[in-house]
Amino acid sequence: MSVAKKDYKRVTVKSLIDMKQNNEKISMLTAYDYTMAKIVDGAGIDVILVGDSASNVMAGHETTLPITLDQMIYHASSVVRASERALIVVDLPFGSYQSDPKEALRSAIRIMKESGGHAVKMEGGREVKESIKRILNAGIPVMGHLGLTPQSIYKFGTYTVRAKEDQEAQQLKEDALMLERAGCFGIVLEKIPAKLATEVAQSVSIPVIGIGAGAGVDGQVLVLHDMIGMTHEFNPRFLRRYMNLYEDMTKAIGQYVHDVKAVDFPSDKEQY
Ligand code: KIV
Repeated sequence: MSVAKKDYKRVTVKSLIDMKQNNEKISMLTAYDYTMAKIVDGAGIDVILVGDSASNVMAGHETTLPITLDQMIYHASSVVRASERALIVVDLPFGSYQSDPKEALRSAIRIMKESGGHAVKMEGGREVKESIKRILNAGIPVMGHLGLTPQSIYKFGTYTVRAKEDQEAQQLKEDALMLERAGCFGIVLEKIPAKLATEVAQSVSIPVIGIGAGAGVDGQVLVLHDMIGMTHEFNPRFLRRYMNLYEDMTKAIGQYVHDVKAVDFPSDKEQY
């Protein structure tokens, strides 16, 4: 398979817009720690998202709501230390930007100053417009996130596909245009019908990255732990697992337990 791919020393928000203009699809994955981020970055990913999904896969919470700004900064600074090429986008966690634009700006500044990330992502459309503008005015790039927005899970009540009805689809289209007009450099669309996502991607000049939003968008994002099969209980239709690390690690650790108990490890060669 031949894929158009220009080499970037460091991917920037401008590179992403160029990729969209050149019809080069954008690859994005999450990472939350140094060792994983080093592998992801070295493999040539365009964007690393330090997602608030860390709340689920790193901390074991049921939702993304509990993770704090301090914890996001800790994860993001570990990722920044590992990365040489990717653009690093950091999620503003729940509670750090919803109450007012000044607090949103303070949170975004903390992320940029204390983690060294390159941009922030925040969930929502018209309801967070003023906060987005405030952050952008400070020179901080912002990525929007529409469709299924997990920080609002208790409002939705379920993680099912969003914007299947005309009214919600219309609102989403308007919000995407608003995000572009406000100056966002990109938008994540999560779990919406592919046809709607394609329409949105064609209606804006900024890159639209999908997760469960079909192939007609400008790029794809997955949660790393799902994509490499470290998690195994979460099986949405949109997820492609490229490995089954859950099985491989369980086998390897089981073997280690056996070897220790059987005094097979360490061998003569593995000691001083
Ligand atoms: O937090 C996250 O991992 C995300 C992706 C699902 C887009 O926001």
